[in-house]
Amino acid sequence: MVIGLLALTSIPTVTGIALGCSEQRKANKQQDDGKRMAKFYTDVDCLYEDEASDEIHGKRAVLRDSKVFIDEISSSNRKKEGHAGQSFFFNYPEPDHMKDLKRGLGLVSTIQDNPPVLNWLYADKETHEVKYGNRTQSCDHVPAPWDWRDEETTIVLEKRRGFFAVREEDGAWAVYLDLDGDDLQGVLGAKGKGNSLAVPIRLKRTLVEIAEPEKNGGS
Ligand SMILES: *[C@@H]1O[C@H](CO)[C@@H](O)[C@H](O)[C@H]1NC(C)=O
Repeated sequence: MVIGLLALTSIPTVTGIALGCSEQRKANKQQDDGKRMAKFYTDVDCLYEDEASDEIHGKRAVLRDSKVFIDEISSSNRKKEGHAGQSFFFNYPEPDHMKDLKRGLGLVSTIQDNPPVLNWLYADKETHEVKYGNRTQSCDHVPAPWDWRDEETTIVLEKRRGFFAVREEDGAWAVYLDLDGDDLQGVLGAKGKGNSLAVPIRLKRTLVEIAEPEKNGGS
């Protein structure tokens, strides 16, 4: 479904720019759009040394059951089957009744390969979990603005770096965003999970390598 949407809106619109600069601006904008659309995996760093670091540091964001979890980079070593989403930035298309919100860049992610399906990543405004869904599922939460920092290496949402890995009941680590600035104490306490482990993390972009085309006559 998002494929059609990409085709529709990927033409950059240049408005209100003095004629003399418009060509240069257009070129810059196109270059930036290209970089924004480079696909990446999302990998995880622990911000501080922690007992749980082994299970989190250097691991990958993996999608399953509408949520973003942290698991091994190698799919065969994962604790549960999931999809390592390939993501890129794309302007979030506000639904008609929210048009004036103009929240900015969304983060699109593959949620499966075959057939390819794309969804939006968003923070659930009630639970603060990072989830994925279509526009209807994401628009009432926090689906934008996503951005990059630290020379394009770190991912932020609403300019916040406050992502946490939270250990769920089954032992899996899920990704949360601290929307209240209380280190998630509010949401975890409300769920009776006040004692759950919540470890501050950084979400990093790891660019997807584009496979070399096969050379003619190569073996
Ligand atoms: C969005 O996802 C929900 C739940 O899977 C589904 O019921 C709904 O039809 C989807 N909406 C669109 C526009 O695809």
